[in-house]
Amino acid sequence: MNDFIVAIDGPAGSGKSSISKMVSKICGFTHIDTGAIFRAITLYALDKNIDLENENEYNFLSDIKIRFDKDKVFLNDNDVSHKIREDIISKNVSAVSKIKKVRDRVLEIEKESHGKIIMDGRDIGTVVFPNANLKIFLTASPEERAKRRVLQNESLGIKSNYDEILADIIKRDYKDSTRDIAPLKCADDAINIDTTSLSIEEVCNKIVNLIDERLILWKI
Ligand code: DC
Repeated sequence: MNDFIVAIDGPAGSGKSSISKMVSKICGFTHIDTGAIFRAITLYALDKNIDLENENEYNFLSDIKIRFDKDKVFLNDNDVSHKIREDIISKNVSAVSKIKKVRDRVLEIEKESHGKIIMDGRDIGTVVFPNANLKIFLTASPEERAKRRVLQNESLGIKSNYDEILADIIKRDYKDSTRDIAPLKCADDAINIDTTSLSIEEVCNKIVNLIDERLILWKI
């Protein structure tokens, strides 16, 4: 079967992961949350107590195994789905994700995906799958994104502070979009959806309709 790739990019808290999850269930696609891969690597690096800014300390990358099983993320066979959402990871993940060795390893993992895939991240439509069948760029105001992250954390039983999350989101937007390698950027041929005043269902419906249209063309 030929691959059919939907790339969903956007800044922290734009709803990428929740929306990708919903759309993939409706369309019967496999969902790959690439932020979770960077988060799992950050968890491992913090546990090893390495200097996160020092590329030479990332020699462990070939030893770690990251896999997805339904909505769960496993790092070397340990379920880290909750741990990778903690604030300590959110605060450090940008530093880890700008390391070239890390990006190269994650790119290898991402490229192993085949079939009907929805992959969400920052550089999927620009770097990972520049020929994706459909590219979506999701945005929302920083305040709306901070509000959503607080609610998401609450639902996971993680306590968080709105002001701190907002400051972290603004900082992360800046770091993610100004880094040298694969910065957060809307691909020229991506469809931009501002989700600030849309419900998750509305965004989901828009994307499902776009996928249906592209699938018809793909099957011809
Ligand atoms: O989507 P998220 O907040 O879980 O992503 C965590 C971090 O991972 C984000 O701050 C930047 C990085 N990331 C990236 O650099 N490239 C991707 N494709 C996905 C995430």
